[in-house]
Amino acid sequence: MRYIGNKTKLLSFIASYLDELELHGGRALDAFTGTTAVARLLKARGFTVDTCDIMSFSYVLQRACVVADEYPQFPGLAEDSDLQAAKLSPHFRTLVESRLRGQGDLFSGIPDLQPLEEALVYLDTYLDPLSSFIDRHFAASESPVDGQRMYFSRRNAQRIDAIRHRLHDWRSDGLVTEEEFYILLTALLEAADSVANTAGVYAAFVKTWQSNATRPLRLNAPDIVVGTGLQCSAHRGDVVELVADLGRLDLLYLDPPYNTRQYSAYYHVPELIAEGWFAPELPTLRGKTGLIDDSQKKSEWSTRAGCIPALEQLLRAVDATHVLLSYNNEGIIPDTEIERCFRQYGVSSTYRRTERTYKRYRADRDSDARQYSGDHVTEFLYYVRLR
Ligand SMILES: C[S@@+](CC[C@H](N)C(=O)[O-])C[C@H]1O[C@@H](n2cnc3c(N)ncnc32)[C@H](O)[C@@H]1O
Repeated sequence: MRYIGNKTKLLSFIASYLDELELHGGRALDAFTGTTAVARLLKARGFTVDTCDIMSFSYVLQRACVVADEYPQFPGLAEDSDLQAAKLSPHFRTLVESRLRGQGDLFSGIPDLQPLEEALVYLDTYLDPLSSFIDRHFAASESPVDGQRMYFSRRNAQRIDAIRHRLHDWRSDGLVTEEEFYILLTALLEAADSVANTAGVYAAFVKTWQSNATRPLRLNAPDIVVGTGLQCSAHRGDVVELVADLGRLDLLYLDPPYNTRQYSAYYHVPELIAEGWFAPELPTLRGKTGLIDDSQKKSEWSTRAGCIPALEQLLRAVDATHVLLSYNNEGIIPDTEIERCFRQYGVSSTYRRTERTYKRYRADRDSDARQYSGDHVTEFLYYVRLR
């Protein structure tokens, strides 16, 4: 998923630093987990991972990609007669087989992925489009009229609506387990993001149709780390409140916001799809971009005055052996302050920092609001032993 600060492209950097520090396994907290990219890496490397973020859409990804430890089998969907009827058609079977072939899974002897691909084919191909919340408030016709929010084509918006309603019904009727629900909802969030008519963030929509937005929505199986036997846990909310109750950790991984943009205002559309719009809690929208109430999701870490006290508070509150922090050279916490905090709250002699230079994330390059010196950004990893 396109996300500011998404560490997918930095995973090898993080992995090699973990190796250098000889950090393998134990209990880890990915405190600002966002898309869960780092949490998945940690789980795949044998850590029992706790994940945390203030955003609801991130909680959906946490449950799907980190907490779930096997591909969903959907026994309850045997009760959905419409889906069962669709499965009888040769066309349905061809679609499922071609997806499994794409995953290299058709003749591998691992039948696990098939039920997930069947559910995705059904949601992708067999639901009638529905005009509901996303179509009414976040879609525009091919030649948009004034006031329409051009986040999605009407066709894609109606498919998002239809799929989101069906997931809600399946969950309410007890036809899917919580993990199955979150896995399907993750597939929808990722698919919707890939056809959103934005430059990467939802603070604005693009005023002409981009090529990705004119492509049909397509659900894909999320990247789930399966078969580890590890009992991982997901958390939604402020990490400082969480750590007090979490107990001992071997590793605290931190990837806080690095600028003053509040994530809640930049990702309100995925947030809406994640939370839904079902009575009695109908969301109220405001402004040109249809913002939702985010008063509970404002982060101190995205404020110049609050970010350093927040870091100090977290380091004081947590019971962890090792701390690793990702940050970059444009962050609002100066490098000297990170070093001061790490040396003050940790074992000063163990403090280290490493760095790598990368090509900038596209949504940042495109920003009108900020002037950057170049197309590259230096990513840092800070380490200290706390206890
Ligand atoms: C730089 S991003 C993390 C990106 C993530 N590592 C990834 O690879 O996708 C920062 C994240 O911190 C979250 N966040 C901000 N304030 C928070 C807080 N007080 N507690 C927990 N999460 C917070 C934001 O919602 C955002 O997802």
